[in-house]
Amino acid sequence: MLKYIFLISIILIPSAKAQQVNPSLDNAGIKILWFDQKLDHFNDGDKRTWQMRYMVNEKYFKPNKTIYLFLGGESTILSPNTNASNIMLTNSLMHDAAQKNAGYLIHTEHRFYGESKPTAELSLDDLKFLSSRQALADVAALIRSLKSDISRFGNSKLFVVGGSYSGILVPWFAKLYPDLIDRGWASSAPFQFHLEYERYNIIVARTLEQIGGQECYRRLQNGTEKLANYLNDKDQIEEAMRLLNICNKFNVNNDFALWNVYHKMALVFGTLVQFNTGTNIQAVCKEILQGSNDVEAVSQYIVKQLKDKSQKCIDYSFKTRVENHKILKYTTDSERLWTYQRCKEFGNFPTSEKRYKDMTNKIPLKYFIRTCYMVFGEQFTRERIKENVQRTNAIFKHLHDENRPKGNIFFTRASLDPWVEVGLQNNSMAVLLKDASHCEDLRPIGPHDSKQMRAFKESILAAAAVL
Ligand SMILES: *[C@@H]1O[C@H](CO)[C@@H](O)[C@H](O)[C@H]1NC(C)=O
Ligand SMILES: *[C@@H]1O[C@H](CO)[C@@H](O)[C@H](O)[C@H]1NC(C)=O
Ligand SMILES: *[C@@H]1O[C@H](CO)[C@@H](O)[C@H](O)[C@H]1NC(C)=O
Ligand SMILES: *[C@@H]1O[C@H](CO)[C@@H](O)[C@H](O)[C@H]1NC(C)=O
Repeated sequence: MLKYIFLISIILIPSAKAQQVNPSLDNAGIKILWFDQKLDHFNDGDKRTWQMRYMVNEKYFKPNKTIYLFLGGESTILSPNTNASNIMLTNSLMHDAAQKNAGYLIHTEHRFYGESKPTAELSLDDLKFLSSRQALADVAALIRSLKSDISRFGNSKLFVVGGSYSGILVPWFAKLYPDLIDRGWASSAPFQFHLEYERYNIIVARTLEQIGGQECYRRLQNGTEKLANYLNDKDQIEEAMRLLNICNKFNVNNDFALWNVYHKMALVFGTLVQFNTGTNIQAVCKEILQGSNDVEAVSQYIVKQLKDKSQKCIDYSFKTRVENHKILKYTTDSERLWTYQRCKEFGNFPTSEKRYKDMTNKIPLKYFIRTCYMVFGEQFTRERIKENVQRTNAIFKHLHDENRPKGNIFFTRASLDPWVEVGLQNNSMAVLLKDASHCEDLRPIGPHDSKQMRAFKESILAAAAVL
């Protein structure tokens, strides 16, 4: 099942690349650890605690050398297959920095995701404790505790790294805990927050055209346009249902159901682009161009991505979307958690008003606002969500100042990444990586790196070496 990856996560940055991990990896020195955290860091009267999970690679560590901390985001820190595939600890540029510099490598899990469960359930009362600020306080508490072990870490510097959502957390951590951080790096993270981010889907289309080629792009456009025409025509709805494998309960007169179909389609293409590895888009295009015609080929691909093996058909109803978000139990990739954070803090909902131009058709803001409202209650009005997002936006205002002196945090944007246009640009530490994908720079130096990518990674390694 696809899940909406903000930034990549999602989240999700790690698991998408887990396929590249060598299964015969040497796991010596890698440990899964737990740390007692306060449920509420901002209320001294609340003594409740919970166990946060984190993983370390101490294979290279020598006392008082640098701590390299990769912040977890909106997903589990372990990829689903094996514990060995925590690529941040084994197969990343930060791993290489730790190896070269006898560093201590940590990957923290964000509260509420994975196995880091502060509460028994996910009711609205519980979710009060799901916030970036609480998560940042978790990290600060862990670092303070480590540093209290003077003989091992008394003199250690701290290099904090994050990508996508967890990249947002890097300068935020620096703002709140300047005494703890020495260096930072925020990869592919947005620092401009709006209610809607319409350009997301337009950049998805642009990247598909650039990487997949004209012929593939035209087929995608024609195929998705035809699907939209079928979906909007009572006489052709049967054909749309066949093509998209829509379950019978789909209500053709319900705008939200229609928008939900478009949103799911947009997710398929957004995921493809966000996790572009250099070859996956070409592979998908090859497959799509082999199909018998535009609409059949495009539908087949969409269905393949959206359908679980256990399912007979795909439930595209808006009601099911809301119900899935209302599940109060912790589940793998709970949709409730990240949606809550978007309604409460980040917004940037990937709307689409330009029918047919970007393969998404119409996904109005109303669709996303309605989701917040239906799932989390009537206090989630458009006005309130807008205030929430503006509050987050204000936190990063200082970073956009062109005259700001060089700081200690690197910021990267990737030109193929749909999030590129809400990243940080007007800052002397900001780099736009050309022809790069979402969080691609977090990977080790490789033979396919462009000159610019190679130079950037070298500068990260150089900065890591002088700490
Ligand atoms: C992964 O880690 C968990 C938790 O420590 C452990 O129970 C499990 O056996 C590990 N699995 C593998 C494949 O190493
Ligand atoms: C690490 O640094 C601390 C503080 O300077 C010092 O007390 C400690 O002895 C050092 N540890 C080692 C093993 O050198
Ligand atoms: C897509 O549609 C346009 C206009 O309907 C048509 O001219 C074009 O040939 C179609 N492209 C493909 C690849 O079928
Ligand atoms: C960046 O600078 C340009 C040129 O000065 C300005 O137009 C733009 O609004 C700035 N962007 C942000 C996010 O501050």
